[in-house]
Amino acid sequence: MCGILGYIGKEAKLSLFLDGLSRLEYRGYDSCGVVGIKDRKLFIQKRPGKIHELRRELRDFINEKFPVGIFHTRWATHGKPNEVNAHPHTDCKQQIAIVHNGIVENYLKLKQELIKEGHKFVSETDTEVIAHLIEKFYKKSLEDAVSKAIKKLKGSFALGVISKNEPEKLIAVRKGSPLIIGLGKNGNFIASDIPAILPFAKEVVYLKDEEMAVIKKESIEIFHFKGSPVKLEIEKVKIKPEDAEKNNFAHFMLKEIHEQPEVLRKILSLYDNKNAIHFPQINLSEDFFKHLKNVFIAACGTAYHAGYVAKYFLEAYCGLDVELDASSEFRYRRLNITKNDLLITISQSGETADTLAAIRDIKERGIKVLSICNVIGSTLAKESDGIIFTHAGPEIGVASTKAYTAQIMTLILLCLYIARMRSSISAQEMRNALKELSLIPGYQKEILAKESEIKKIAKEFSKFGCFLFLGRGINYPSALEGALKLKEISYIPAEGYPAGEMKHGPIALIDEYRGVVCIAPKDFLYEKMISNMQEIKARKGKILAIVNYGDNEAERLSDAVIRMPKLKNQNFSPLLVAVGLQLFAYYVAKNLGHDIDQPRNLAKSVTVE
Ligand code: AGP
Repeated sequence: MCGILGYIGKEAKLSLFLDGLSRLEYRGYDSCGVVGIKDRKLFIQKRPGKIHELRRELRDFINEKFPVGIFHTRWATHGKPNEVNAHPHTDCKQQIAIVHNGIVENYLKLKQELIKEGHKFVSETDTEVIAHLIEKFYKKSLEDAVSKAIKKLKGSFALGVISKNEPEKLIAVRKGSPLIIGLGKNGNFIASDIPAILPFAKEVVYLKDEEMAVIKKESIEIFHFKGSPVKLEIEKVKIKPEDAEKNNFAHFMLKEIHEQPEVLRKILSLYDNKNAIHFPQINLSEDFFKHLKNVFIAACGTAYHAGYVAKYFLEAYCGLDVELDASSEFRYRRLNITKNDLLITISQSGETADTLAAIRDIKERGIKVLSICNVIGSTLAKESDGIIFTHAGPEIGVASTKAYTAQIMTLILLCLYIARMRSSISAQEMRNALKELSLIPGYQKEILAKESEIKKIAKEFSKFGCFLFLGRGINYPSALEGALKLKEISYIPAEGYPAGEMKHGPIALIDEYRGVVCIAPKDFLYEKMISNMQEIKARKGKILAIVNYGDNEAERLSDAVIRMPKLKNQNFSPLLVAVGLQLFAYYVAKNLGHDIDQPRNLAKSVTVE
């Protein structure tokens, strides 16, 4: 996915736009570019690499002022990351410039037709087709030409479009990829996500799918693709600028790891109303939950692992049958799903293409969709029947941390909420659970306080060429998530496995050159975990164990330990295990000198399939 920023208003310095664009860099960072209009001329600069490299190249123009411009940071889909494929893209005559986030699925056919009509292409991208289509339809109105061009496109596209022939207009288009309009005091902005406009705009309009906006210095008009005008719904920006800054942390990821206790406290304060759980936007009746038969959960990556934890809870506390799938698999299954079933999707960004595709098919069949999401105004939030926000604040680090434990906490509360409605737990059991959940933020802080210990362990374990993460029961998903965290920022192969499966293959991997992370809380599966650790020890595997305070037996078998408080209800332990493993992954990657917030090949939200 890519990051789009646009501006029109009182002329402003290029450096300001690059600052805003940098706050979108987590969305994609293999190439970037800027285009401004001044004296009816396009000023374009683009290159492979990151924004700070572009800023260096623009050092002589950094204080140049432009009244209108569009800016882009890319995660390449079509065409390698180089200067010619970087955005913006223009038409043959370099009069129209566009930036794009998404995929034009029918671009090859359109490109061939346009070439036959005499258009000259310079890049390998799908995006460039849009610039030539607008050129083809352009007469006297930029918005008319854009409106005609987008009707030819199949796929997803958020666009920013400007033309030197009409410098008083900035056109924004949204279909399948997010785009917001920020209302500033000196002008108006468009952006893929809120962080880019936080310092400049206190009010925002969320463009909905199939809407186009004609934005001028003093006015904003929005139209549906079919042409009908759309009423402006202006909302207050609820996020503070510092929420999207690193403040005094070395990386966003480390800051977000440390934010988790506060995030969980906020979730509990929002949804636990004196032992009565309340979800204001769930939009599903008590009767629906009473008659609920099966739950399907679809999500990707870290969100999938949170869904795995929820699966255990829904089965154990609500007496429900639960099927869990990665969204990319779920969407192609031929399911026997009925109106008494529920699809729960989980997504930090609310823009993951496969998860959106999963809900669209299910909604067409009249099945209810409840989503757990972190971004207000996201596509998933708008398209779901019911929504529960995780209120974790902007998560900028590509490796998801606070969003994960926020998802788990929210899902645990949802399970308790459903269990009470189905009378599958008593009021006292609910009170006990909520009481223990209220202690979790403090327990997380205890683990965060061990950061320097974990840093030392990470240094020692950084030498291993591959890792096995083992867990049982509710901590099998913790093993999956720990492995994902490590591999995506350290680039070390790491695999999460159910510990009980070790003897069915992975034990062949064990020797003194592998790191094995064993998640061994003192729960009903503890003895079996200890046996696994003995088998690993016997084969010289190097063990990092996640253990409860005072567990001498597990410590004796381990080369290193991360200690955590023992919970009365160990089903909540994933909320603690995650923190230790996040810090472990962070310090391994830091020790290896990797770009932690923007790991290679990744992007914060995968808005393409
Ligand atoms: C997690 O660290 C990864 N960045 C990735 O797996 C992510 O969880 C996945 O792409 C899902 O994103 P979403 O929660 O925004 O849908």
